[in-house]
Amino acid sequence: MTLDLVLRGGTLVSPQATRPVTIGLAAGRVVLILDAAESLAGREVRDLDGLLLLPGLIDCHVHCREPGGHAHKGTYASESRAAAAGGVTTMLTMPNTVPFCGSAAVLAAARECAQRSLIDYGFHFGVTADNLAEVAAAADLPVAKLYLNETTGITSPLADDAVLRRVLALGLPLSAHAEGDTLDWLLGLHARWGTGPLYVVHVALAREVAALRAAKARGQWVYAEATTHHLLLTDQDAARLGPYGDMRPTLKTAADQAALWAGLADGTIDTIATDHAPHLREEKESGSPPPGVPGLQTLLPLLLEQVAAGRLTLAQVVRLTAAQPAAIFGLCGKGAVAVGSDADLVAVDPTAATVIEHATQYTWPGWTPFDGWTCRGRVEAVWRRGELVYEAGQEPGTGGGREVTVARAHRS
Ligand code: NCD
Ligand code: ZN
Repeated sequence: MTLDLVLRGGTLVSPQATRPVTIGLAAGRVVLILDAAESLAGREVRDLDGLLLLPGLIDCHVHCREPGGHAHKGTYASESRAAAAGGVTTMLTMPNTVPFCGSAAVLAAARECAQRSLIDYGFHFGVTADNLAEVAAAADLPVAKLYLNETTGITSPLADDAVLRRVLALGLPLSAHAEGDTLDWLLGLHARWGTGPLYVVHVALAREVAALRAAKARGQWVYAEATTHHLLLTDQDAARLGPYGDMRPTLKTAADQAALWAGLADGTIDTIATDHAPHLREEKESGSPPPGVPGLQTLLPLLLEQVAAGRLTLAQVVRLTAAQPAAIFGLCGKGAVAVGSDADLVAVDPTAATVIEHATQYTWPGWTPFDGWTCRGRVEAVWRRGELVYEAGQEPGTGGGREVTVARAHRS
């Protein structure tokens, strides 16, 4: 077999081990992983000496604003370029578009738009009070989303026990926006009626971490996601950032933030995602600024800085942003660099720095709450299914992303 690309000498990071390798890629997949000392021939050979090689990141919580009325905020085409520049090669996108993505027709329109994505993608299908049959019919998607609190595009969140009981009994993976008391209520319903996994998005409060830890200890099939902004910013930053630091859940206290880090350390938190939520500057400057901040491009640099600072290990980063997202949602070929997996790879220079600035953000609105931060570590090159989609110092590519396929996870 002729290899399309040989990546030589990078240090492969996996949750289990870190070792120098030579990797052979063909037809968009990893086909060989050898010791770095071994030589391989291919159509193209690239030296990665001194670089780290990570599986492409999977961001489980992204808002692209298509189809429909919010497309001016950011599209699959625009936001996926920000993703690639940040080492994210797969994203799961949220249904709070206008119209809401909770029907076969809107899903079809979303699929049409998503074809312009540079990276691979999957959908959270939206649950409403009266679309149970459509939710059941979307069982081949990674997950269905419950909105139980108000947020962008959601003015009447689900509030009815009977509806939730029926949705929980479908046995499909469900993601949920449920804050504080609402989370306690949902966990109670899930304990009683749930037959599938429940993935709680953007956990932000210490009491939510505690509730999820207790649920896991009781054996409940739940997962928890934390966002980069809740891990790295607090209400002190919210005061400084004004509307640019406003999102749902809002930024919390230092004690809440510490609880998230404790949740990462003890495994209560399973994934780190961005809740990438593009809004234009003029919307943020308006009298009623919408909540939400972009994050796709800054996810990996910010986590690399946490590694440099000794707060996370590289293995944890890979587990939280690739291995576990793939396992939780059953994303075929994703989340690991292994023979047979999709060749989604990120080369990182741990000795170079990333200076995060508004001006270098590819997200359509062109701003970030982390402007001015310097991170130790830089994304050098990113491959999505073997195709180079980003190279440091150059513009990301365009198009070519495709929808993920799902192999439903059974509870181990
Ligand atoms: C998100 C958005 O703008 O779509 N906003 C946010 O503040 N997080 C919606 C959401 O995830 O709640
Ligand atoms: Zn969100």
